Amino acid sequence: MSTYTVKHQPLLSSGGALRYNGFSEIRSLGASLRGGHANMTPRLTPDAQQAYKEVLETFPAILHPDKTARIDWLVGLQMAQKGVAEGDREMVITAARFISRPSSKARYDKMMGIGETRETVKTGYQTLEGYYRRPREVKRWPPVVAKTTKPASEMKILAFCASDRKEGNSDMLVSEAARGATDAGAALLDKIYLPDLNIKHCQNFYMQRDIVGVWEIDPDMAFNYCDYSCGFKGLKEKGTCTLDDDMPEVYEKIKAADAIIFGFPIINGWEGEVVTGFQERWQRYTGCVITDRAGEGRRAMVIGTWGTGDIQAYDNIVEVVINRLNTFKYNVVEAISACGFAGLLSGLDGDGKGIIKRYPEEMKKAYLAGRNLVTGEFGS
Ligand SMILES: Cc1cc2nc3c(=O)[nH]c(=O)nc-3n(C[C@H](O)[C@H](O)[C@H](O)COP(=O)(O)O)c2cc1C
Repeated sequence: MSTYTVKHQPLLSSGGALRYNGFSEIRSLGASLRGGHANMTPRLTPDAQQAYKEVLETFPAILHPDKTARIDWLVGLQMAQKGVAEGDREMVITAARFISRPSSKARYDKMMGIGETRETVKTGYQTLEGYYRRPREVKRWPPVVAKTTKPASEMKILAFCASDRKEGNSDMLVSEAARGATDAGAALLDKIYLPDLNIKHCQNFYMQRDIVGVWEIDPDMAFNYCDYSCGFKGLKEKGTCTLDDDMPEVYEKIKAADAIIFGFPIINGWEGEVVTGFQERWQRYTGCVITDRAGEGRRAMVIGTWGTGDIQAYDNIVEVVINRLNTFKYNVVEAISACGFAGLLSGLDGDGKGIIKRYPEEMKKAYLAGRNLVTGEFGS
């Protein structure tokens, strides 16, 4: 990767020249679109410079060179599109939105003077009336609609719920999706509450097969490896796991299921250790243990729920969970985001159950998605 020097406006680099590695292709593409050369940053109005400063301050300093290159490029694109010589405040904020997590939306809305005010958010925490007025929404991502390999009546599904709250919002949406699938003829094998499982964490030693090359260099080299994991031919073909937990039993169900539904709440801005711990254990288990691999040809659906009223806020985390299932070779054909489960009763109704049940039109999206999971039809 090339290394070169980029001169920044004083505002961005305290007057100094910043040494910067990488993103040369982005920078030169942006520059060529602006008709400039690779070392040029876009000219900004004073307002835009102020916005740029505010945006940059929200990122850790170590990321500033990376973020600066991206913002410059995106502002340059907008300037080229509009045929203007100076980037304005809106262009900077638009660029910042592109390079930030979707949960930063509220901050950028505020900078633009739009979106939910602090007062509206607060009333949902102060009075029951304000709480019930809060918006709640379910979004069905554009699904993959493709013919299934079996008729729905021959499909078995397995549901997972990662929330501690039984009959909470994640649980209800998972149940609704499962109902869509079973109404279409599929059989529900089980609904597994991940917090109830005893899942241990793998010490993540190397597998025996991964270190064969090390022994070829030095047969006496000490190297931590799992003596029980499966090895290459000629080595011990053990393929067992010594961790004594619920994974082997759960994995038998995973293998038996043609499709899975995986629901989880957002905890502190991410999917939480219940999900991560389970998915990591799943991955290691299939890597180490000689077993028929589940996944290939199977279908999946992911449901993420959260408190903020922004329906896109944690789509990036839903994507993380989708990508993990993808590495297990699942075809994730449906994804659901659901938001607004915060406030005075923390997303519950007066009876302690998920408030989403008050919104049949929103629940229907999960139902149709569950139906598509086993039919391959969009539904209506
Ligand atoms: C400890 C904790 C942390 C949370 N963190 C966030 C968060 O970072 N962002 C958010 O929007 N909601 C957050 N929430 C709200 C939950 O995501 C939301 O209530 C979720 O829908 C709960 O799902 P459930 O009803 O299935 O339990 C948090 C809730 C708890 C209990």
